[in-house]
Amino acid sequence: MLKTADFVIAKNRALNQNVYEMVLTGAADFSVAAGQFVNLSLPGKFLRRPFGVCDYTADSITLLYKVAGGGTADMAAMAAGTVLNVMLPLGNGFTLGAIPAGTGDVLLAAGGTGAAPIYCLTKTLIERGFRPRVALGFNGRDDAFYLAEFRALAADVEVYSVSGELGEKGFPTRALEKEPGYYFACGPQGMLDAFAGTGLPGQLSYESRMGCGFGVCMGCTMVTRKGARRICADGPVFLAEDILL
Ligand SMILES: Cc1cc2nc3c(=O)[nH]c(=O)nc-3n(C[C@H](O)[C@H](O)[C@H](O)COP(=O)(O)OP(=O)(O)OC[C@H]3O[C@@H](n4cnc5c(N)ncnc54)[C@H](O)[C@@H]3O)c2cc1C
Ligand code: FES
Repeated sequence: MLKTADFVIAKNRALNQNVYEMVLTGAADFSVAAGQFVNLSLPGKFLRRPFGVCDYTADSITLLYKVAGGGTADMAAMAAGTVLNVMLPLGNGFTLGAIPAGTGDVLLAAGGTGAAPIYCLTKTLIERGFRPRVALGFNGRDDAFYLAEFRALAADVEVYSVSGELGEKGFPTRALEKEPGYYFACGPQGMLDAFAGTGLPGQLSYESRMGCGFGVCMGCTMVTRKGARRICADGPVFLAEDILL
């Protein structure tokens, strides 16, 4: 059930020069699932800021965020003990039941901070007996993060970088050279369009500027093959077959 609650920052650490991990602890009466997101109220900011859930326990949520503007710059400077109001759970999340029975090769692809929901999904799928292939994409070596965390999940991790400094040169779309039975992807629009353009079955997690974050203002509408859909409430995850390119 949608709720807002005060959470306390338990940890806020830099993963590289621009990306941070924030662990928030709070009341234990919330539920989230892989692919869902939270909306943080930040002091002095009118609109809440949306972030995908990277991990969660009974009383904590982990977020990965990139400093992209004023709100995230403020977050990077926040000390442990700071209280933030969190709205959760938001969005539909990934539909695991859509993976056809018997699918062996499930590919999970992330570009940049798209790694947050993909980490949560990797963990969930491994708990359910899958051994997914994970493709992580970064611009260069200095932009990389969470490689050890993904490897610790015992997933098969492939790394791609635009500069070629780390892993294979190119985008995580290169992981499609070995055609997966099913895929999940989260990252920049161009990467999602490339995945959707393959015609392969899968799910894509989208971002857009948001107003309310819970389906009321229509500020995040995207046109799909099934008509106009709200990214915050009908998404952020959409079936690849519904994407209009
Ligand atoms: C469903 C969803 C999940 C997201 N998950 C993550 C995540 O896990 N990690 C992460 O680093 N970022 C994530 N983002 C993007 C993140 O919300 C923005 O980078 C952040 O809101 C920027 O805030 P700002 O104040 O620093 O930037 P500013 O540019 O100062 O923000 C101004 C306004 O624009 C909005 N805005 C700016 N950029 C974006 C963006 N890319 N998407 C949506 N709204 C934006 C802000 O929320 C704010 O309302 C997600 C966005 C969505 C919609
Ligand atoms: S942000 Fe208001 S409907 Fe999606």
